[in-house]
Amino acid sequence: MEKSRVLIIGVTGNLGHHLAKATLQFSHPTFALVRPSSFSDPHKSHKLHSLSNASVTLLQGSLEDEESLMAAVKQVDVVICAVSSKQVLLQKLLVQVIKKSGCIKRFIPSEFGLDPDKTRISDMDYNFYKQKSEIRRFVEAHGIPYTYISCNFYMSYLLPQLVRPQGPSEGQGYNFWRREY
Ligand SMILES: NC(=O)c1ccc[n+]([C@@H]2O[C@H](COP(=O)([O-])OP(=O)(O)OC[C@H]3O[C@@H](n4cnc5c(N)ncnc54)[C@H](OP(=O)(O)O)[C@@H]3O)[C@@H](O)[C@H]2O)c1
Repeated sequence: MEKSRVLIIGVTGNLGHHLAKATLQFSHPTFALVRPSSFSDPHKSHKLHSLSNASVTLLQGSLEDEESLMAAVKQVDVVICAVSSKQVLLQKLLVQVIKKSGCIKRFIPSEFGLDPDKTRISDMDYNFYKQKSEIRRFVEAHGIPYTYISCNFYMSYLLPQLVRPQGPSEGQGYNFWRREY
């Protein structure tokens, strides 16, 4: 099977780390764009070290830094973004860079939840779904190849909260009622 060169943005995060491990498992050459501050955070640097040992190429940069985005995008065929819901609008510069580079065969924006075009939770979702829809329209307007992944809720996150509605202690996970994710 032909291998894709895959860039993942968000490998120090919850989902992005798993995505990087999955692309490695299928032997796709894997690259990660990582903000410089993550290297000095003990928890994140541990994750980065293990990915680097597993042959992920770590590139320093940020969704807000066009030069680093272009340098990273030019090395790959596929871009997967896994920034958090509150950061999705930061993907606009990435979309513009992908369009300008002309080398990306597939872009997967940060969604990985309910279909944002079909979901409206008035005043309770911090506009996450509206913003994910806004990114869809932005991607489509730029005419780049894309795949949207709508996978509903991750039950491993949700179920523990159902039996503990007061929410987790700091660092233990997500509380869908009281916290942004
Ligand atoms: N379906 C579900 O049940 C479910 C549950 C949770 C999440 N999700 C979805 O999954 C997606 C990822 O969420 P998550 O919880 O995994 O996110 P997360 O843990 O908060 O991770 C966000 C990642 O984005 C990186 N990042 C942030 N700003 C950046 C920037 N300017 N440039 C480059 N990287 C940047 C962070 O890197 P740093 O280390 O530099 O901060 C981190 O690696 C979201 O779309 C979310 O809605 C779905």
